[in-house]
Amino acid sequence: MKGEWREKYFHNSNPLVIELGCGKGEYTVQLAEANPNINYIGIDVKGHRFNHGARIAKAKGLKNVAFLRTRVEFIEAFFGKDEVDEIWLTFSDPQPKDYIGIKRITSIFFWKKYASFLKENGIIHIKHDNPMIYQSALEELDTTPFLIQSHSADVYGDYIQKIDSKWKSILSIRTYYESRWLEEGKKIHYVRFKTRNLQGWSKNIV
Ligand SMILES: C[S@@+](CC[C@H](N)C(=O)[O-])C[C@H]1O[C@@H](n2cnc3c(N)ncnc32)[C@H](O)[C@@H]1O
Repeated sequence: MKGEWREKYFHNSNPLVIELGCGKGEYTVQLAEANPNINYIGIDVKGHRFNHGARIAKAKGLKNVAFLRTRVEFIEAFFGKDEVDEIWLTFSDPQPKDYIGIKRITSIFFWKKYASFLKENGIIHIKHDNPMIYQSALEELDTTPFLIQSHSADVYGDYIQKIDSKWKSILSIRTYYESRWLEEGKKIHYVRFKTRNLQGWSKNIV
């Protein structure tokens, strides 16, 4: 389907949003239900997890949802240049011992892969409980052509009260892991950034 998801799978020319490490696929399914004119693909290496989301999508009759089983390490094999409008990274495994970032799918190493198929002005969202993921994303963003659109170290604190209703309902979606961390009293962090003049940057792998 590389380069052909819209035409051959979804049979439309709507925007395409992917969720990497989607687990049960809460973001994929709930965003798809709210936005029938956007296509969504949840991606995870564990098929039994997204089977949960796939069953819900089927029961609801959603035609704008797909799930793909693969490791994110191989993601460039599945999407062509300018094919993807947005990427969600929801509570990705933090991989604390991966100092270089070659296993952490929220790292700059992976952003360079994503840049090969993200559109100009495409968006990446990172939602996470781990302050290290949030802080390192903000620091790494300083060294890239990406532009930070919005961020918060405590989504359900003041932040969610101040944002408009569209973003409020999007950021109120709770994944399985998010609910667990909230029960433990952890704060939820969020960063949203967009691509800008990425041409050539993704080839310059660190
Ligand atoms: C902590 S869970 C979060 C799941 C879901 N996003 C949530 O918030 O409930 C991390 C998920 O990422 C998946 N995952 C981890 N590393 C991956 C990789 N390299 N490629 C694909 N999926 C991966 C795991 O299988 C798992 O479902």
